[in-house]
Amino acid sequence: MNDEDHRGGAESSGPTLEMSPEEMRRLGYRAVDALIERWSGLRRDVAWRGATRGELEALFRRDPPEHPEAPEALFDEAVHEVLARAGRIDHPRFFAFVPSSPTWPSVVADFLVAGFNTFQGTWLESAGPSQVELVVLDWFRSWLGMPEGASGLMTSGGSAANLDALVAVRHRFGDAARPVLYVSDQGHSSLLRAARIVGWPAEDVRTIRTGADLRLTRAVLEGWLERDRSEGRTPAVVCANGGATNSGVVDALDELADVCSEQGMWLHVDAAYGGFAVLTERGREALAGIGRADSVTLDPHKWLFQPYETGCLLVREPRDLERAFTARPEYLQDVELGAEHPNFADRGLQLTRAFRALKVWLSVRAFGLAAFRAEIDRAMTLAERAEAYAAEAEDLEVLTGAQLGVMCYRYRPAGFSGEEAALEALNQRVQDALVESGHAMVSSTRLHGTYALRLCILNYRSTWEDVRSTLERVQALGGELCA
Ligand SMILES: Cc1ncc(COP(=O)(O)O)c(C=O)c1O
Repeated sequence: MNDEDHRGGAESSGPTLEMSPEEMRRLGYRAVDALIERWSGLRRDVAWRGATRGELEALFRRDPPEHPEAPEALFDEAVHEVLARAGRIDHPRFFAFVPSSPTWPSVVADFLVAGFNTFQGTWLESAGPSQVELVVLDWFRSWLGMPEGASGLMTSGGSAANLDALVAVRHRFGDAARPVLYVSDQGHSSLLRAARIVGWPAEDVRTIRTGADLRLTRAVLEGWLERDRSEGRTPAVVCANGGATNSGVVDALDELADVCSEQGMWLHVDAAYGGFAVLTERGREALAGIGRADSVTLDPHKWLFQPYETGCLLVREPRDLERAFTARPEYLQDVELGAEHPNFADRGLQLTRAFRALKVWLSVRAFGLAAFRAEIDRAMTLAERAEAYAAEAEDLEVLTGAQLGVMCYRYRPAGFSGEEAALEALNQRVQDALVESGHAMVSSTRLHGTYALRLCILNYRSTWEDVRSTLERVQALGGELCA
């Protein structure tokens, strides 16, 4: 068979989607070089770079070309023009929202996975990868202290994990009269969005106002349960915080686990960012009780140093997921290989799934768990030092102390006796000026209405100097804006 026949009669000199091994190597090495250059220079770079729609329309709006462009130039454009105009989420002074700083082995693992293009929906199509996913899930299960047999699946992130969990809960309580979902006012928005997506009636979703400590406790919850039962509803699920995004606060997990087991309810712990703190002694203490949950959301792309998109849902009874999600159309009749050989597509929303567990498997083995423990612990120490620094400073006010890497505070000029609104406006201006300077990327939030600056310190590259210089800039900018 000549080349022409092999290609279905297409002209061998015509357009093709193939590349020679030399071209592939050149491009691949170019990408690796670009990444290493970026990583090596990260500390000297700005922490954030934005752009307006107008600027970007002028730069990037093109019709797709009919004929090839030089790939090297295209890759350079992607690196220097497109990817550079974004926040550096892995910058050592990126303290906004929830940072993410992947390790090199996990990035390379993702590249491998893309090249192998593994289909991780069924055991038939991905036996080795499925086994590795089972192993990684079992690592997580044992770290959390969940019982043997608990398992789940890797997801695109915490939002997807929370959604999959609520699908399973809804299924479990399918026959109950008006099942009710409880979440604190510090719960992540993805939980309320998931409730909306699964069609949970808004009047049966209770967003519970927390007290000054921002925690959901037995005492805060119990009155609601009684009231709902007396009105003919069925308390179904408590969605607890295993590290609230706002402040790092952890709900009273042990107490909530007691309530849930007494009342036949499901306890879901959203530990998307905080969960991996269980690898440390103080994290285990803070998250005591998490292993008793019926389901736990984790986000390895947050505090386990993995690249996006790496989330995870663990459930005490994987059958709960399989009952809710399994669908077996004719064209998938070949994939049933028995309970020993789970099809991950039966445990969540996606049929076609990427092999996300590989990056965790490779990076944890490449560095050893002790390195992960040490970095998570160090981040908590930095947050505690930030709290101590702010508490001592005359012009900073701690709003919530360091909890699982998060500390909320605000600039408050010494002797300030003005209106709250003025303080809020001042802090907003400090925040904007700091972000604009590029020195650090920070974000704000509200704690029961009070405007707060927030530091989220999870990056293995961040040092005390990074944290201190950021707080010093807040003080300097605040001073300038008051002058
Ligand atoms: C506590 C918590 N839950 C859920 C999420 C959503 O996770 P993702 O952004 O991975 O979908 C986040 C993200 O910040 C979070 O902090």
